[in-house]
Amino acid sequence: MTVLRARVLGVGGYLPARVLTNDDLSKMVDTSDEWIRERTGIRERRIAAPEELTSTLGLHAARAALANAGIGADEVDLIVVATSTPDETFPATATKIQAGLGITRGAAFDVQAVCAGFIFALSTADNFLKAGQFRTALVIGAETFSRILDWNDRGTCVLFGDGAGAVVLQAAEGEGTSDDRGVLSTHLFSDGRHHDALYVDGGVSSTQSAGHLRMEGKEVFRHAVVKLADSVNEALEANGLTAEAIDWLVPHQANARIIIGTARKMGLPMEKVVMTVDRHGNTSAASIPLALSEAVADGRILPGQVVLVEAIGGGLAWGSALIRW
Ligand code: UT7
Repeated sequence: MTVLRARVLGVGGYLPARVLTNDDLSKMVDTSDEWIRERTGIRERRIAAPEELTSTLGLHAARAALANAGIGADEVDLIVVATSTPDETFPATATKIQAGLGITRGAAFDVQAVCAGFIFALSTADNFLKAGQFRTALVIGAETFSRILDWNDRGTCVLFGDGAGAVVLQAAEGEGTSDDRGVLSTHLFSDGRHHDALYVDGGVSSTQSAGHLRMEGKEVFRHAVVKLADSVNEALEANGLTAEAIDWLVPHQANARIIIGTARKMGLPMEKVVMTVDRHGNTSAASIPLALSEAVADGRILPGQVVLVEAIGGGLAWGSALIRW
């Protein structure tokens, strides 16, 4: 029997032009390039221009992904945007990107799982495509975290950046055929008991203001190391694979120490790990598709290779996905 697979047709990314370096930050808060590099691996991050909204970034990434896929926007019938920094409270940022692309059919909506958002959006689109309800999906992670940072809090403002990434998925006959490429599995998890570890202290229903990001960094770090390893193992087990089968680990880019720790636990050499955190900082839901687009553009990720993606963030929410590219 053949079953439908969500195949990756293309990927693209967009970064705002403005670069904010660690030295720039050391003039704003009591920090240093040395501290930031040693504790996080971050050297610089991008900051959106005032007129650039999350939808602006997402639209650029979507266009790049469609060009990479070699298909027109008219083929897309599903847009899922992962973001925690929407343009407006409503409508969904996805509908603004849909309009920007000139698409008037199908559905467009947002999902919110903070830094794990891209995995949740990918899983959502994958399930719709496998079920046959839509055929071609744009899955976008787009964020302007610079707008919700407390620029006086050195514990958080040095960590995040703005950006967007997108992948194009299309339903195709997969398992049981000679060409079994596509999303092999997704695993999603949440545990709302850990709300206080990472949240925004505002919102429509609570304060009627956007609020600022608050994080107990050590607490999140502690959960990240354990939960990411668990979800990675679950992904491998579900597919009957071992870590040796992984060609590329493309993790959420929050902290180089977390990424190196996860690779070490898996026994993966760092040559198989895609790292962008040094130049992008933590771009939340955008970090994985941005890293994917970089590694495809420079020829590292090739068709047929097995790519493992994983992320954790506010909620706490976390998960992993295995993709045969
Ligand atoms: O994407 C969402 C998921 N988020 C994450 O995965 C983040 C996970 N957490 C982390 O990446 C790390 O916990 C941080 C990078 C946020 C912090 O690193 P840490 O090694 O856990 O440092 P810490 O928070 O324990 O702080 C150590 C020291 C403290 O000083 P004292 O109390 O030891 O005197 C902080 O006040 O470093 C101080 N500190 C800073 N110093 C210079 C905190 N932030 C800074 C800073 N510059 N920017």
